[in-house]
Amino acid sequence: MAFSFTPGGGRGAHLHVSDFEDVTGKAFDRKITMQLLAYLKPYRREMIWGVFLMFVGSGLALLTPYLIKQAFDVHIATGDAKGLSLIALVTLAAYGLEMATTWQRSLTLQTVGNRILNTMRGELFAHYQRLSMSYFDKHGTGSLISRVLSDVGVINELLSQGLITMLSDIVMLVSIVAVMLVLNARLALLTFSVLPVMVVATVLFGRRARVAYRNTREKVSILTGRLAEDINAMRVVQAFTEEERMGNEFAQINRENRDANVEAAKLASIFTPSIEVLSTLTTGIILWFGGRAVSQDTVTLGVIVAFLSYTSRLFQPILDLSMMYNTWQSAMAGGERILGILAETPDIQDRPDALPLPDTEGHVEFRDVHFRYIEDTPVLQDVSFEILPGETVALVGPTGAGKTTIASLLSRYYDVSEGAILVDGIDTRDIKVAELRQQLGVVPQEPYLFGGTIAYNIAFGKPDATMDEIIAAAEAANAHDFIASLSRGYDTEVQEGATNLSLGQRQLVCLARVILAEPHILILDEATSSVDLRTEGLIQDALEKLMAARSSLVIAHRLATVQRADKILVIDAGRIVERGTHAELLEAEGLYAKLYVSQFIAD
Ligand SMILES: Nc1ncnc2c1ncn2[C@@H]1O[C@H](COP(=O)(O)OP(=O)(O)OP(=O)(O)O)[C@@H](O)[C@H]1O
Ligand SMILES: [Mg+2]
Repeated sequence: MAFSFTPGGGRGAHLHVSDFEDVTGKAFDRKITMQLLAYLKPYRREMIWGVFLMFVGSGLALLTPYLIKQAFDVHIATGDAKGLSLIALVTLAAYGLEMATTWQRSLTLQTVGNRILNTMRGELFAHYQRLSMSYFDKHGTGSLISRVLSDVGVINELLSQGLITMLSDIVMLVSIVAVMLVLNARLALLTFSVLPVMVVATVLFGRRARVAYRNTREKVSILTGRLAEDINAMRVVQAFTEEERMGNEFAQINRENRDANVEAAKLASIFTPSIEVLSTLTTGIILWFGGRAVSQDTVTLGVIVAFLSYTSRLFQPILDLSMMYNTWQSAMAGGERILGILAETPDIQDRPDALPLPDTEGHVEFRDVHFRYIEDTPVLQDVSFEILPGETVALVGPTGAGKTTIASLLSRYYDVSEGAILVDGIDTRDIKVAELRQQLGVVPQEPYLFGGTIAYNIAFGKPDATMDEIIAAAEAANAHDFIASLSRGYDTEVQEGATNLSLGQRQLVCLARVILAEPHILILDEATSSVDLRTEGLIQDALEKLMAARSSLVIAHRLATVQRADKILVIDAGRIVERGTHAELLEAEGLYAKLYVSQFIAD
């Protein structure tokens, strides 16, 4: 007799990375359960089919030992060869049918499970895309990934397999006990005398196993997180030759993970044989007491055989049920987190009466804007300025002054805390977010490239662009030469993290991407900070052509880049401290003049 026992819960559970936070979770929560059950609704027919198959399968599982009993007591006892052949065939057919129901049930439930998995993942991803930047500021990538992968998995575990397995286990348990009592109450009670030991052992084990397996999941999750970080940081680690320290730290985590697994394995290795022992004990009891009863003619041989067969089916449901607590607990914890995310309303949303923004003339106004990312930490104060249609406004100022923040507010990644931002005289909060963003072209401070070809990256904002258009945009961004020099040209695959391109090259590709999208308002945040001066000079001409036709907000540390702007705003500690043209600001001999002189000397 072989028992399978699965740590995560019901049948087929896995160890999931970083779902260890189910530490304090409740095993049952009505509201969460109801909300989760709603996911089963579209599959009502499949679930009913699954329950039906479960009942048929359980019935057959109960029937076969009885048929064997009949074979012994009726046909073998009387030497009825014809009847024996018949009952053997029927028994075989019953086994076959039971297998078939198991197969069908498993197939049906797995299919339903995978569909639910698919739906939930889709919903989560779609919701992530709706959420605002403030949400992503607060939640780490790791936990957001874990929601989509492991939480969804444990819920699926419960919905598709767990519920029906639990039902089936209860049905089997109750009916086997009933049938055995009916067949022979005395022998049944003797056999069941082992069950309390079994239940106590299972409960004790279950409790310790829960802790042990939670521990292994936690350690695996820490190990994975650490591994990812260390691999990403390899360059820094090697640069500081801190391999040994990092190696030791990793070894420590690695050891803890090993110990947790060994501990869990120890428990399992004691538990499985003890259940085997108990099951052998029941066999012994049946043979010992049953055998005597047979010789005294109070019990038939068939009953003994049937008992042996029934008890072999008694243990798995008990094991399953003991693990069910885990399945519920993990699913409740996962469900709570997922439903929490889905209930999260984005900070930035279209108002019901939000206006379209078909073609902006490019008039931008910041009116007394105050902003803080977190309470009590003002980042921008009293920021007021205007970009007239076609104008180029430059933002300069020290690191951390709030320049990127101003750009983020214009894109409405965040809403202002006080004041207003207007485009064409309309408060941006009254404009449909998507339409506002479609008018904007942003080259962000950190150039981001997707996995895919360079051509794909350039055409990201305009997927139907022709190759000629892509090349023209790359030429305008002065990216064409370097792309053409690559052995696969525009078809060069960008590696994860774009490590096969230099930082300056990445910036040029991002610039080409925005040029191709032809936005009405251009936002360049340190767009050319990493390209050499000669290349920057070359782009400058292209950029000027680009900016001549549209309103632009240009952020740069290199003042050479901003000299020709119509207006320069000097930002310091979240305030505009100076404003004017290059010439005016030099004359004023303030912060800008100081910055300029120091850069001039440096160059
Ligand atoms: N997502 C955020 N959450 C909380 N604080 C933030 C966030 N982003 C920026 N800040 C803070 O806001 C301030 C302004 O940051 P910002 O990125 O706008 O500076 P910056 O002028 O663009 O600087 P740099 O020249 O280095 O790019 C900084 O003090 C920064 O720590
Ligand atoms: Mg910045």
